[in-house]
Amino acid sequence: MDTFVNVSVEQLSEALTFPVEAYLSQEYARAEGDRLWSKVWLHAGRVEEIPDVGDYLTFDVGEDSIVMVRSSPDTIKAYHNVCSHRGRRLVDTAPGAQCAHGRKKMFVCGFHGWRYDLDGKCTFKLDESDWKSALTEERTRLNEVKVDTWGGWIYINMDPNCVPLREYLEPAASILDPFEFAKMRYKWRQWVIFDCNWKTAIEAFMEPYHVEGTHTQLLKYGQYYAYSKAHGLHAVSGFDERDPSLKMKQSSTITRVGKGKDPRISTYELQNEIYTTVNNASTTETLVNAAKRLVDELPEGTPPGEVIKHWLASARADDAARGVNWPTITPEQMSEAGLAWSIFPNMAILQGVTFALCYRARPYGDDPHKCIFESYALERYPEGAEPKTEWVYAEPTADKWGFVLSQDFSNMGAVQKGMRSRGFRGTLPNPHQERKVTNFHRNLARYMGTGAPRVLK
Ligand code: FES
Ligand SMILES: [Fe+2]
Repeated sequence: MDTFVNVSVEQLSEALTFPVEAYLSQEYARAEGDRLWSKVWLHAGRVEEIPDVGDYLTFDVGEDSIVMVRSSPDTIKAYHNVCSHRGRRLVDTAPGAQCAHGRKKMFVCGFHGWRYDLDGKCTFKLDESDWKSALTEERTRLNEVKVDTWGGWIYINMDPNCVPLREYLEPAASILDPFEFAKMRYKWRQWVIFDCNWKTAIEAFMEPYHVEGTHTQLLKYGQYYAYSKAHGLHAVSGFDERDPSLKMKQSSTITRVGKGKDPRISTYELQNEIYTTVNNASTTETLVNAAKRLVDELPEGTPPGEVIKHWLASARADDAARGVNWPTITPEQMSEAGLAWSIFPNMAILQGVTFALCYRARPYGDDPHKCIFESYALERYPEGAEPKTEWVYAEPTADKWGFVLSQDFSNMGAVQKGMRSRGFRGTLPNPHQERKVTNFHRNLARYMGTGAPRVLK
């Protein structure tokens, strides 16, 4: 690794800049395979995608492909998706798909027919005796990859010497555990290819600072001033208040009062606007309906805090009546968890008690100007009422993704193009509201050994 000086967590509150090499350089994109993707825990799927023995799922990142399989009722294994004979990819991804999944009793290579059981052992090599005794189990078994789960997500790590997943995710894992994401299920999942670097795409979801410029229609429903805070590799943002004397009035989470004189009305208007323009995500039908009743159930002049309390209690009761039980999350836990998380390097979670809106971005081969972008909504469902979902390729339009996400998407290629300009002097992230972005680059620089953020003097 090259020598470089990185900023400390404390310095993230200062005005910083970092070079655009990480977004634009082909060499950098190639180095990410060796220095980043093969060294970190990566969100590779959800446990619900492989419920039964033999169910498998592939995950590609850069030039690497991993196959995860449920090898026994309680065990998930992960392997490099490559045949040990002459290196054919073992499980193919269909053209136009972003992963392969299905159920198999064994993996059979399409080239010379070698077979592998679900534990990765090579169980059949055609004309094995031609090798005499050279084809040992170690030489022929599938190359295993570290795999573990948290919150219903399957994570993989290609580094055999990596720290355990839990350690890697802390303190984010402990702060978010009360939300019991493992009990949520996919509501919808979509993906698209953007003409931008994967970092350009995921960073668009690291801060609400862009609401004022991108989602102007939302301004009449709420305040979007935000804090952001580093937690080691990971970081969180939440709604904040410009006036320090008002700090405790505004909830940092998505379930909060809206803008306007009457919190009974503004809370509903904000929730309804989010639900209808963020593709039925970022809140739930139960929360929207309970908010709609606030004007009938509460007297005029009810203080904002009481409105929120009543609203959440009645939504909780509505959900309980249909078999959806909320976990108990204390106000302190709720406030610490904030609005939205960035899990290093490429995962974003915007959470609520009964839902989560998540994003993932990954490179498209080694092209620094393209990425695969995926987004999905999770929700709590009554047992047996979970929708059946599949990954759907969706053009980045408002009718496919909702108006708000289409607005976010309209910035992707334009930011990438702009950063390629010889007139661009380098990024100037907001020291208070965009600290998630600088923390991301602080950590990225540590893995990559280059391109560290520096203090603007
Ligand atoms: S490459 Fe797989 S059997 Fe030959
Ligand atoms: Fe946005």
